[in-house]
Amino acid sequence: MVRHLQSLQDFNREELKGFVSRALALKKERLAGVNHQQLAGKSVGLIFEKPSTRTRVSFESAMYGLGGQVIFLSGRDTQLARSEPLKDMARVMARYVDGMVVRTFGQEVVTELAAYSSVPVINALTDLHHPCQILSDIMTVVEKKGPIEELKIAWVGDGNNMANSWIQAAGRIGFELILACPEGYDPDAEILAAAQQEATKPITLLRSPEEAVAQADVINVDVWASMGQEEEQEERLSIFQSYQVNAELLAKAPADGIVLHCLPAHREEEITEEVLESDRCVAFDQAENKMHMHKAILEQLIGDK
Ligand code: CP
Ligand code: NVA
Repeated sequence: MVRHLQSLQDFNREELKGFVSRALALKKERLAGVNHQQLAGKSVGLIFEKPSTRTRVSFESAMYGLGGQVIFLSGRDTQLARSEPLKDMARVMARYVDGMVVRTFGQEVVTELAAYSSVPVINALTDLHHPCQILSDIMTVVEKKGPIEELKIAWVGDGNNMANSWIQAAGRIGFELILACPEGYDPDAEILAAAQQEATKPITLLRSPEEAVAQADVINVDVWASMGQEEEQEERLSIFQSYQVNAELLAKAPADGIVLHCLPAHREEEITEEVLESDRCVAFDQAENKMHMHKAILEQLIGDK
C-alpha cells in the first residue's frame, strides 16, 4: 500500500521515531563518506507553489545523495496555474515519477493529490502543517539534548503550521509541549484537541511566553506572518511584540535551554540578532538536518522495501 506523508498523523510512534534514528544514522554515514545509491533509478517531482530555499534544496540534495533524480516544478510552470484538476495532475505525475513532494497553500491540495496518486505524496509545507520540518527539528533536539520524551519543548509565537505539526508530534510521540500564543493566534483547535486526547504528556496552551520558557529545554520560534499572510505583517508586528525571543526572555529559561528557528528569520522581529547568532541557537544545524531527515523519509517512502 502506498504511504503518503500528509501530516504526522500518517505514522505511528515507532515509525516517527524510526525516521529520526535513521536520519541520525544517515548523517553519520555521510560524514564517514559512505556512498549511498538506494534510490538509483528513482525520481521525485517537487511541486512548489510557495517559495523555498531549505526545503527545496535539502530534498533535492537528499534525492541526489541517495542516487536518485528530481524534477522541480514551480506552481506557475504547471497546468495547475491554468486550473487543471488536481486529480488529473496526480494521476499523470504518478506515471512519470516515484514520488511527489508538494509545497502549497491549502492542506486539501495535498489531500486530493494523495487521494488520486499511486505514488507517495509528501507534504513540504501547507498553511496547516510542516511535518518534514518538525521531524528534522526533533532530530536536532535528540542530537543536542537526548531523548525527547524526557524534555520540555516550548513554542513561542504564532499558532501556525509549525505549531500544529509540533502538537501532532507531541501527541503521537509523547513529550511535553507548552505553547505561548497571543489570543486570536492559537493553533488549530481540532488538531490541539486530538493531540491532547492521544497524549501521554501534557500539551498546554498559554498566553505568557515567560511561563512557557520557564522550564523549557528547547524554545521554538518562527516568523509572525507566514507565507500567504504578507498583508497582515504590519498588524502582527504590534500584536506579537511581547513574544520576541530575546536575551531578556532567555534569561527566564534554563541556562542550557536551546533555541530552534526553522528559518527564514526576521531579525529584531520574532528573534533578535543577538539570540539568533548566539551559541544557544541551533538554527543552522537544524537547517542541515533537513537534508538528512529528507533522505530518511524518501528512503522509507519510495525506496524498494
Ligand atoms: N524552513 C523552511 O521550510 O525553509 P524554506 O521555506 O526555505 O524551505
Ligand atoms: N510558518 C512559516 C514557515 C516557513 C518555513 C511559513 O509558513 O511561512
